[in-house]
Amino acid sequence: MSLTAAQSSEPSLTAHILKDPRNPFPWYREMRERYPVYYSHEFHSWFITRYSDVQRVISDPQLFSSEQSIRARPTSRIQTTTRPLLWTDPPRHRQLRSLINQAFTPRTIANLAPRITEIVHSHLDQVALQGQMDVVSDLANPLPIIVIAELLGVPIQDQQRFKHWSDIIVSPARQQKKQAVIEMNTYFQMVVEQRRQHAQDDLISALLSAHIEGTYLTDAEILSFCRLLLVAGHETSTNLIGNALLTFDEHPEVIEELQARPDLLPGAIEEVIRYRTPIQRLRRAITVDTQLGEHRIKAGEIVSPVLGAANRDETQFSASETFNIHRSPNRHIGFGHGIHFCIGSSLARLETKIALDILLSRFASLRRIPDVPLQHVASSFVYGVNSLPMTFRER
Ligand code: HEM
Repeated sequence: MSLTAAQSSEPSLTAHILKDPRNPFPWYREMRERYPVYYSHEFHSWFITRYSDVQRVISDPQLFSSEQSIRARPTSRIQTTTRPLLWTDPPRHRQLRSLINQAFTPRTIANLAPRITEIVHSHLDQVALQGQMDVVSDLANPLPIIVIAELLGVPIQDQQRFKHWSDIIVSPARQQKKQAVIEMNTYFQMVVEQRRQHAQDDLISALLSAHIEGTYLTDAEILSFCRLLLVAGHETSTNLIGNALLTFDEHPEVIEELQARPDLLPGAIEEVIRYRTPIQRLRRAITVDTQLGEHRIKAGEIVSPVLGAANRDETQFSASETFNIHRSPNRHIGFGHGIHFCIGSSLARLETKIALDILLSRFASLRRIPDVPLQHVASSFVYGVNSLPMTFRER
């Protein structure tokens, strides 16, 4: 039997996710077990929750299009010419990504390590004497913005403006957002002009000189990538650092273990990405009428591969609801998979590792203040906390 979206009359599981973004996991489990391809009337999209199905969707950009998933939104004002990498399909995606890869190299990222270390120490210096900090606003939120600003070559004196724009761009305030995008474009257009005259050792200069057989990125493409970096690389890393500390706090033995064995930190970070996936779900449009499970999905309908659910699939991860920093192998798909696999994954891993390493080595008895209620980010796409007050003793 084939069911279409309109005929699908299953219980409203996704309504629970809207009500309680803190804990979507029991609903994901029910979907995986009973309704692995589930039409959500709340989100107007098909939720795909099993690991193998999510892999299938994000590995096949021809059938599951990123580009069309945005075009389908009536509110989208994105122009085709400035469409960011994330919302393109092949062949355009291939061309853009290989140009960007020439500039966004592993060496560029690895070279940032000393500066990231400095930035983390200077933020911790400001709170060290207080014995208390809000991990999100005092460290996890500013760190990725400063790193992206430095990567792009924004001078120190302009970084406050940059922070202001990026805060607005990732917030829901629509009117202000438009204004911030205009101001940021004007600013980066000026930086692009300057770097064209005098190249420097920064990402914008590298983006300007990247080419494939004489084809270069246009200014509009460079500006669009700068904006994408802010959106894709800011809140995601903030939430990863917050989610890590929240999860470690729930498992105090993990903090002790990591303090004794800092070499376990990279594995612990991967497990946080699996267990509390910062980007819970993606968005694709199906391009041809297709049978998925027992459902017939029509061309143009929106499919939402739920990474946060796939990462808890018990057929892929044993004891999948348990946080285990020794998990091996850990084939989570928190950074996506296939052609859109996160271009900033090594940067996210690096800044999170440095931040946690320094926090755990400088501060002892790091604990969440228990009577302050947690405020989770109110979103079904993003998983994180808006603030995380913690106490500590300086070692
Ligand atoms: C793509 C997750 C950090 C830049 C993606 C995708 C995921 C993801 C799931 C795939 C999207 C899709 O298939 O539709 C994350 C997580 C991060 C993180 C969980 C942190 C914990 C960053 C950082 C940057 C970045 C730090 C850059 C500074 C990008 C870009 C893409 C992307 C440009 C688009 C790649 C493409 O379309 O080819 N990210 N990301 N991300 N990410 Fe990240």
